[in-house]
Amino acid sequence: MKTPEFLQIHHDDHAAIRDELIQGLSAPKAHTSPKFLYDALGSRLFEAITELPEYYPTRTEAAIFKTHGAAMAACVPPHATLIDLGAGNCNKAAALFDRFAPKRYVAVDISVDFLRGALECLQRQYPELDMMGIGLDFSSSLRLPAQAGSPQDPRILFYPGSSIGNFTPEQALSFLQDAHQACGSASHSGLLIGVDLVKDHAELQAAYDDALGVTAAFNRNLLPHINRVVGSDLRLADWRHLALFNPKDSRIEMHLLANRDLTVTWPGGSRDFAKDERIHTENSYKWTVASFSELLQQAGFAKPQVWTDAHDPAHGRFAVMWASAR
Ligand code: AVI
Repeated sequence: MKTPEFLQIHHDDHAAIRDELIQGLSAPKAHTSPKFLYDALGSRLFEAITELPEYYPTRTEAAIFKTHGAAMAACVPPHATLIDLGAGNCNKAAALFDRFAPKRYVAVDISVDFLRGALECLQRQYPELDMMGIGLDFSSSLRLPAQAGSPQDPRILFYPGSSIGNFTPEQALSFLQDAHQACGSASHSGLLIGVDLVKDHAELQAAYDDALGVTAAFNRNLLPHINRVVGSDLRLADWRHLALFNPKDSRIEMHLLANRDLTVTWPGGSRDFAKDERIHTENSYKWTVASFSELLQQAGFAKPQVWTDAHDPAHGRFAVMWASAR
């Protein structure tokens, strides 16, 4: 039996993270990056969100893979290196192993600690598959190390879950350009990506403001996380969750709203918030099949193959796209 290799590249720069949060809190329109939603509890709350009846993306995407897995397998190169971006528990990629028959599986996440258990377990199920875990912050730059495998071997970059939606369109384009580069030089390499689509506003709104309040907890959990990093005194009781669809920018926005006039302090600084003033905590962009296909082509990919949950792809709620690199 083979054993998975591990390589940790990313290292937290605590001073830079603290500065980034303070800068965001001090800005005229206070904001924080969505990456700060994912401390240990935040990651668990996100897992819980994916089980909610209102949060359709996870189960809709899973159904698309189930229905169209054979058609996808006919598009992707066989015996490829399957590079799983944001792999977490590796379940989504592992569900494709039997159909895609990869030669090598490279799971990428911010820390190899998240990947270790999953890869060791998967290796027992697939004893002859080369496996590697890489700890990399690919949201800032997707430069794969040489250990990921030869760029001459065909590659399938796998980025499910519509995490691309948490990037601005400019960041998404830059990420896709990096992904195009990371496909290497083999013909038939490409990107398999999940994209959430624009839809009825009420359905979108409910998905980000569920009746049980799990998404509210996910958003508000940012406050104790900021306090731990910055040493601030944000109080849970002072802030409430707001999710709204912004049709102009085609995105769901999450905010935290101050319940009263208050002052937040931290070592060396402070910020006043008026009642109902906001901290903008996340954007989740919703694309159309046409607009995302266009973005892929702008990044250098070919016109993608598209599978959705609807008969007519233009009317799906969620899309999985295969975009060949050349
Ligand atoms: C991880 N990401 C794709 C989720 C989304 O739908 O934008 C994060 C999330 N935020 C609130 N609910 C789920």
